[in-house]
Amino acid sequence: MTKTTAIILAGGQGTRMKSPLPKVLHPVSGQPMIVRILSQCLKAEIEEIRLVVGHGNNLVKSVVEPLGVATYVQEKQLGTGDAVKSAQVDSIEGDVIILNGDHPLITAEDIKGFLTDFRERKLDLAVVSVELDNAKEFGRIVRQGNQLKAIVEAKDASAETLKIKEVNTGMYVVKAALLKKFLPQIKNNNSKGEFYLTDLISIALDNKCAVDAIVTKNKHVSHGVNNQVELAEATKYVYMQKCQQLMAEGVIILDPNSTYIEETVVVGAGSVIYPNVFIRGKTAVGPFCVIEPNAFISEAILQDGVQIKAGTYIESAVIKSQAKLGPYARIRPDTTIGEQAQIGNFVELKKVNFGKKSKAGHLTYLGDAEIGEDVNIGCGTITCNYAADRKKYKTVIKDRVFVGSDSQLVAPVEVGHDAIIASGTTVTKNVPDGALAIGRAKQENKEGYAKKFTPAKKD
Ligand code: UD1
Ligand code: CA
Repeated sequence: MTKTTAIILAGGQGTRMKSPLPKVLHPVSGQPMIVRILSQCLKAEIEEIRLVVGHGNNLVKSVVEPLGVATYVQEKQLGTGDAVKSAQVDSIEGDVIILNGDHPLITAEDIKGFLTDFRERKLDLAVVSVELDNAKEFGRIVRQGNQLKAIVEAKDASAETLKIKEVNTGMYVVKAALLKKFLPQIKNNNSKGEFYLTDLISIALDNKCAVDAIVTKNKHVSHGVNNQVELAEATKYVYMQKCQQLMAEGVIILDPNSTYIEETVVVGAGSVIYPNVFIRGKTAVGPFCVIEPNAFISEAILQDGVQIKAGTYIESAVIKSQAKLGPYARIRPDTTIGEQAQIGNFVELKKVNFGKKSKAGHLTYLGDAEIGEDVNIGCGTITCNYAADRKKYKTVIKDRVFVGSDSQLVAPVEVGHDAIIASGTTVTKNVPDGALAIGRAKQENKEGYAKKFTPAKKD
């Protein structure tokens, strides 16, 4: 098998993005554009990847190097031809696929398809082209009869050439030997004074190489991101693709236009997702869950039949079967919510193991806590986990405990099985199994006293 090397061009400045972030690091559905392209190359089993970086190269390197991708610095951005040269083509053998770092919608299937086509047709050089109704700034594919003749950049094209609808997607497949031989012949005598990679087509044709276009119908490959509008369009496309995939698998999505689920997420059949829901990262949602509007769920596991009510925020947590959360609950990292447990409005949990069938219905903060099964946490309960020594301490509440409303538990503290905490108690000492803990000032009723404070009525 012929070896394949991908050269990805990502050296350009991305001026039209008007953003301090290098263009290829802008995220599309939660993933930097360049990472998307690299992972599709890896999925397509490309043996070697050479990424050409330039503008903001240190930042780009810090993102791609952990993925094991080699970077090649293009010192000055002298054009796409020069960018390919920077990838040190002399040390490449076999076939080369050249991709644009700003075309984030390419898939492994597209890449494999182009390579197969190139090999079956025994070409030396192929440009991937597509027909577009609005050819915008794309380079035009100029043909004589059926024969490909050249690629002409929009800026250098005549009015007649600009009418051509077949355009250069900016992707090519080429034999390494051809690159080595003809790349040095590219000149910069054009309107931008740049070395255009597109000139390789006419040079190779003049030298009787087998050159043609691979015409693709997959318009997404031609979606280049040059500004924020095109970035948003790419993002929209990826979210829509994901919704369509999930709907095909039996997930009920009320409005795919306003549902934002990253590709890494899995959702079980029969789950219902309301509008304006964001689901991120490696989140797994089981079957028959209901996720109401404005929920934000990141890196979480939701088992079967979980109900997430409106406005709930969940990060790095496990929610077990048939638990109910929200509206307006906040579940912070390292939290596990037990089966059939209920977390109500304005309840915040952090690093909590919350037991099966336990309830915290309203206005509560639980942090660094171990809560048993069938526990009732009354409204306004607070675990005081952060002490004056600036350290965190743990609260343990055993099975079937009843914590009355407006109680504080000053950690470290432990409440035994079946104990009751009277409303308004500040628990500072451990509570034995089955005990009642009550710690509040004794109430005194002063008969007739209210009158003293009530202004006399005039009548
Ligand atoms: C290029 C093509 C055009 C094609 C279009 C598809 C040329 C001359 N033109 O135009 O025919 O229709 O892509 O999107 O090739 N880059 C570098 N170093 C440089 C210049 C560019 O690494 O010196 C990188 C950019 O980061 C980008 C890619 O090459 O990822 C394409 O460059 P860009 O300037 O966006 O080319 P276009 O004008 O879009
Ligand atoms: Ca471009």
